Amino acid sequence: MAINKVSQEEINKQFEYMHKAKDIVSKRYKNSKYAINTMGCKLNEADSEKISGMLEEMGYVKTENFEEANLVVFNTCSIRENAEEKVFGKLGELKNIKQQNDMIICFAGCMSQEPHVIEKIKKSYSLVDIIFGTHNIYKFPEMLFDKLNQKDNKRIVDVWDIDGEIYEGLPVKRESKSQASIIIMNGCNNFCSYCIVPYVRGRERSRQPEDILFEARELAKDGCKEILLLGQNVNSYNPREGYNFANLLSDLDKIDGINIIRFTSPHPKDFKGDVIDVISKSNKISKVIHLPLQSGSSRVLKLMNRGYTKEEYLDLAKRIKEKIPEALFTTDIIVGFPGETEEDFEDTLDVVRKMEYEQVFMFIYSVRKGTRAEKMEGHIPEEVKSERFSRLKTLSDSITEEIMNKYVGTTQKVLVEGESRTNKDVLTGRTWSGRIVNFEGSRELIGKEIEVKIVSQHVWYLKGQII
Ligand code: SAH
Ligand code: SF4
Ligand code: F3S
Repeated sequence: MAINKVSQEEINKQFEYMHKAKDIVSKRYKNSKYAINTMGCKLNEADSEKISGMLEEMGYVKTENFEEANLVVFNTCSIRENAEEKVFGKLGELKNIKQQNDMIICFAGCMSQEPHVIEKIKKSYSLVDIIFGTHNIYKFPEMLFDKLNQKDNKRIVDVWDIDGEIYEGLPVKRESKSQASIIIMNGCNNFCSYCIVPYVRGRERSRQPEDILFEARELAKDGCKEILLLGQNVNSYNPREGYNFANLLSDLDKIDGINIIRFTSPHPKDFKGDVIDVISKSNKISKVIHLPLQSGSSRVLKLMNRGYTKEEYLDLAKRIKEKIPEALFTTDIIVGFPGETEEDFEDTLDVVRKMEYEQVFMFIYSVRKGTRAEKMEGHIPEEVKSERFSRLKTLSDSITEEIMNKYVGTTQKVLVEGESRTNKDVLTGRTWSGRIVNFEGSRELIGKEIEVKIVSQHVWYLKGQII
């Protein structure tokens, strides 16, 4: 659904707070540094780029080293329990250095939207100074200014349980020049029975196409070659009557300079013929399609509230392949959903064999408070879940190996992303199918598209030679 925008007046007000905060920051610290810990999905990464953009406008400089930071942001994820536990561990580690660095600690993201998390922080983590949620990120400058200006040492908590409005025009610190993420919609209306996202991100809200197209054109002018469109359910993008995701894709396709367009995640139940048509006609839109399966059993899919059966999913993949023969698929799968039998799990393996996914992102089911699955019968013992997980992994690894072997000896067009993290003499980039390729070359190639011959495969990356 379309939604109101935050007014320009409010955005201007936040800029004023940023400028006033900058004054205080420059007096309070010699070299003010911030560190940001981003957990979870690409939406959180994109939100972190906004939080970083605002912090830099306020005079903070980024550091990777939390030990030297004067401000730390935890941008958290609630999707599975282990993600939640990690963040509390990391928070605890800051106890000793908080005082010494005159550090301000901010807790943001999806976990802030969960009442039991707020309770836990209030009870046991007095070191947290500011808590804000996913709906009011644009208010961060105001909150930080208030904190910097405070005489007493009171914690600021501002979390909304109503859906926030779309905002435009605040600073963004992009991590890369050649690639950029663009959030096109926020929230989710699907309520898959295992999932916390609809509770922590609210209902679907789509940005207006004009704003998205403007952002993409500006990025192209700045040298960006690849854009990644983000949303919890991108193909239910619906900013207004008569304009949908297919329209957006075809408008973005016309922007000069943008050569690769990717999107994640679409929902199989909403993947319609018009989107398949636009992809098939475009030579910019990636033919690697993320098609989250979750389970291969129609019975489990029903319990999950996914809105499709095994057969409908396979039929969709077939229709996509018919129109786009070079299409490749990646997927998400949950093992050990409550009530999943051995037979249900076999159905999942069956789909994995049939689909020959380029990549399977697999997860062990994790109970989430307040979801429908929490109350379902037949929760699966941990050892059964782990055993199924490793069987799925073995299958998926053997398919990946076959796929990787097929690349060896071929020539691939690669967008050069940067230096390899482990070896400065090696550059790293991606094939159009999203595979990482490492090769020797000079730094001037970063941001360019080049041809690389693949000489060997190493499970999670390919080794290449420039030709
Ligand atoms: N909107 C996206 C999913 C975002 S969450 C979609 O529908 O595809 C990313 C993935 O996390 C999901 O696809 C699912 O596989 C996994 N996930 C979500 N909730 C989970 C849970 N409670 N336990 C384990 N995995 C979960
Ligand atoms: Fe979660 Fe389902 Fe929404 Fe994806 S579509 S975010 S899995 S509720
Ligand atoms: Fe996690 Fe929130 Fe994304 S729960 S997966 S960071 S939307």
